[in-house]
Amino acid sequence: MSGPSVSPAVRVRGVDMSFGEGESRVTALKQATFEARAGELVMLVGPSGCGKTTLLSVIAGTLTPQAGEVEVFGQRLDGLGQEALTAFRRRHLGFVFQSFNLIPTLTVEENVMVPLLVQGRSHEEARARAREMLGKVGLAGREESRPTALSGGQQQRVAIARALVHGPTLLICDEPTSALDKDTGAQILAMIRDLSRAPGRCVIVVTHDHRIYRFADRIAEMEDGRIRRVVDDPTLLDQPHA
Ligand SMILES: Nc1ncnc2c1ncn2[C@@H]1O[C@H](COP(=O)(O)OP(=O)(O)OP(=O)(O)O)[C@@H](O)[C@H]1O
Ligand SMILES: [Mg+2]
Repeated sequence: MSGPSVSPAVRVRGVDMSFGEGESRVTALKQATFEARAGELVMLVGPSGCGKTTLLSVIAGTLTPQAGEVEVFGQRLDGLGQEALTAFRRRHLGFVFQSFNLIPTLTVEENVMVPLLVQGRSHEEARARAREMLGKVGLAGREESRPTALSGGQQQRVAIARALVHGPTLLICDEPTSALDKDTGAQILAMIRDLSRAPGRCVIVVTHDHRIYRFADRIAEMEDGRIRRVVDDPTLLDQPHA
């Protein structure tokens, strides 16, 4: 009976998202449609301003679109109240922000503990798991530092550790290698891809970094607020987005 699930982990259909009013109105998503399946790492590529971060925010439930449907693990997000959305994010979601969004007043270790503490884990467990995850991203010994004392690449790895530490079923990464060298970027992507292989997991990565395209199962090319096409071979893309 049991075969691969046919229902996608993430399904976005006909989503419109615009910001502002009147003359200053900007349309970021125009009837955007996108799918990602469980067990899969999908990359999202496209020129600056085409709507990649906006699409990620809609999938994460932090932006509510004006039109269309957003479904994650069979749960419709549009129409969920704030409380239910927060519960959904705490349980399912890991998010690596393009701008890292680390909390400057907390130490590196405390930043990584946050997703576990809001899930109600004990302080001891959260600390132990945060330390282990910081070791995996190559930051052992920096636990007590403040984020502002770290290099850009180190801060990015803290953001990645924080997104992975609670084993999210849906991991969303916005330019996760933008501040990393080639080898570190490849190591981090290998870790992220491993997570996508765990049962029921799904990973979506926005990137301009063609050096990591090889980690993708499929690449969705975005243009002007919508997905233009989806390929499983990066050489089929028009241009590498360097
Ligand atoms: N909060 C906002 N208020 C107003 N306009 C916004 C807002 N967020 C995004 N936009 C606009 O929506 C469009 C898409 O932005 P988005 O951040 O999704 O692009 P992107 O593809 O992630 O670009 P980049 O590669 O530079 O990160 C842009 O024109 C942007 O200016
Ligand atoms: Mg962006």
